[in-house]
Amino acid sequence: MTQTTKQDRVLIFDTTLRDGEQSPGATMSHEEKLEIAEMLDEMGVDIIEAGFPIASEGDFQAVKEIAQRSKNATICGLARANTTDIDRAYEAVKHANSPRIHTFIGTSPLHRAIPGLSQDDMADLIHETVSHARNLTDNVQWSPMDATRTEHDYLCRVVEIAIKAGATTINIPDTVGYTAPRESADLIRMLIEKVPGGDEIVFSTHCHNDLGMATANSLAAVEAGARQIECTINGLGERAGNTALEEVVMALRVRNDIMPYATHIDTKKIMQISRRVSQVSGFPVQYNKAVVGKNAFAHESGIHQDGMLKNAETFEIMRPEDIGLASSSLPLGKHSGRAALRDKLNALGLEVGDNQLKDIFVRFKSLADRKKEVYDDDIIALVADTAGDK
Ligand code: KIV
Ligand code: ZN
Repeated sequence: MTQTTKQDRVLIFDTTLRDGEQSPGATMSHEEKLEIAEMLDEMGVDIIEAGFPIASEGDFQAVKEIAQRSKNATICGLARANTTDIDRAYEAVKHANSPRIHTFIGTSPLHRAIPGLSQDDMADLIHETVSHARNLTDNVQWSPMDATRTEHDYLCRVVEIAIKAGATTINIPDTVGYTAPRESADLIRMLIEKVPGGDEIVFSTHCHNDLGMATANSLAAVEAGARQIECTINGLGERAGNTALEEVVMALRVRNDIMPYATHIDTKKIMQISRRVSQVSGFPVQYNKAVVGKNAFAHESGIHQDGMLKNAETFEIMRPEDIGLASSSLPLGKHSGRAALRDKLNALGLEVGDNQLKDIFVRFKSLADRKKEVYDDDIIALVADTAGDK
């Protein structure tokens, strides 16, 4: 008899309002942040990183109000490794049903050189600041910034210190999008195996997309044992952005056969929040963006359109309704065939005979050679022009 096993849960930590907003030009107003936070909460995000409270009075107020209003999600505030930042972050998030402080410091040689700290001095500072945060709340996340370029021995050492000081989530940032899937997995596996106490806390992955590998690196980390993915809507974030929430969530859903991990995201809300984040941040979504791009469910070529009309699974691995999109689209262009033209005529309620259809098709192809897309009005005009051929 087969036994059904409960799937491992992967927590979704959204940082659209913090790392996403750090993207140059993506600043959102107070009201817009509250609206996005509410949408994230409703769609089932587990942790919302609502901002960086020490950064400005506006950021503090936004995090505080999001904390007061949120119903389900844990609300997290970011803090550097000093007690002033940590106290400010706690002041903002303490109103939440479930508050979290996220404190970080750059641990790679390049980042250690900036404050000019020795390995030992930085280790002491990590112990002191994580302990301070833990005295304020029992939900503390710690990140060694630029972890993927930190010496492995030192990374293990500081992660162990953070765990002993009370961190409950250890987030491993690939701050500059430098790692690759196998390395991302190996790093998480090494930390879980080598660091004492590593099997008692949650390891998290936080990837940037500089080489276009953020989603692959995040999923590889999950397969190696990470149980929290940090991500943003539309992959908004510094430089080439962060891991896109919609990509990891849909990948875990569509390929659950090989990645059996569950999230609590209501995927039907993906399209709505994607559009809203694009509007409020002023960052358009590229047409061919995975999952939420305008063309992600659009098919122009004759072979694809014909296949789609017979069985959508021929060219789609997700159903549009699963991300909250009404339907796929078959835009008419020069690559389209007779099947899609006939389908469009039917959809427009236009009846034409076989001879007229032949004529319309010839004229449609010639028009499509001159235009990128042939619209409904063009088709209606072609039907009128060829009406005598019935
Ligand atoms: O990319 C990064 O390292 C960060 C940290 C603050 C977690 O965003
Ligand atoms: Zn980041």
